[in-house]
Amino acid sequence: MMMTNPSPLTPHASPESPVIAIDGPSASGKGTVAQLVAQALGFHYLDSGALYRLLALAAGRHGVSFDDEEGLARLAEGLAIRFEGSEVWLDGEPVGDAIRTEECGNGASRIAAYPRVRAALLDLQRAFHKAPGLVADGRDMGSVVFPGAMLKIFLTASAEVRADRRYKQLMEKGMHANINQILHDIRQRDERDSARSVAPLQKCADASLLDTSSLTIVEAVDEVLARFKQVRVR
Ligand code: DC
Repeated sequence: MMMTNPSPLTPHASPESPVIAIDGPSASGKGTVAQLVAQALGFHYLDSGALYRLLALAAGRHGVSFDDEEGLARLAEGLAIRFEGSEVWLDGEPVGDAIRTEECGNGASRIAAYPRVRAALLDLQRAFHKAPGLVADGRDMGSVVFPGAMLKIFLTASAEVRADRRYKQLMEKGMHANINQILHDIRQRDERDSARSVAPLQKCADASLLDTSSLTIVEAVDEVLARFKQVRVR
């Protein structure tokens, strides 16, 4: 497996190298918020959804069926990926927006339901934990990947608000989009991500809820930073 990251630090709550785990449903804005929080603190950033999306893309390219858990897990173990700024590389090539399509997101959601696939991606995700700290976003950052995270946020918004945000995002990228289809996909993906037996999307007991339905991105970022300040001085 090709990585730019050295071995992980533990525990995840270490004051010298804290982890902020931001989990939440599809299109909740957690990626944008997590990235800006990481930037503000000078921390590293892990977009864990990108790993599942990359695996879905790689499966398509390597002819591995989404029904083949074993084959997908093997592919995950050998994934040659690299993150460079906001660009993601697969097999020595930048993937660009190929992992940001709805099709790829839906494929990612399907393969993410396999326990063996999730296990195969665990070490890769933990390897992103380096000093001075990490902001990680996904579905199970606080519950499974970084259970000792110093701050856990469950970031959400109504399905309608999320569909509207995703629609605008896709339009800005010049991608084809249909708002009703997006809303339908978001609901379906919420259902699949929440209902799966392994690491389902759920707010863990020690996570604090942040509903961004009526917040701007800047307000959401400020709120996360304020909560982090509170737990850090404790
Ligand atoms: O966050 P995202 O939309 O890029 O994630 C794509 C899919 O990957 C999502 O529908 C479920 C899956 N995923 C997951 O199961 N666990 C994670 N930590 C991140 C993403």
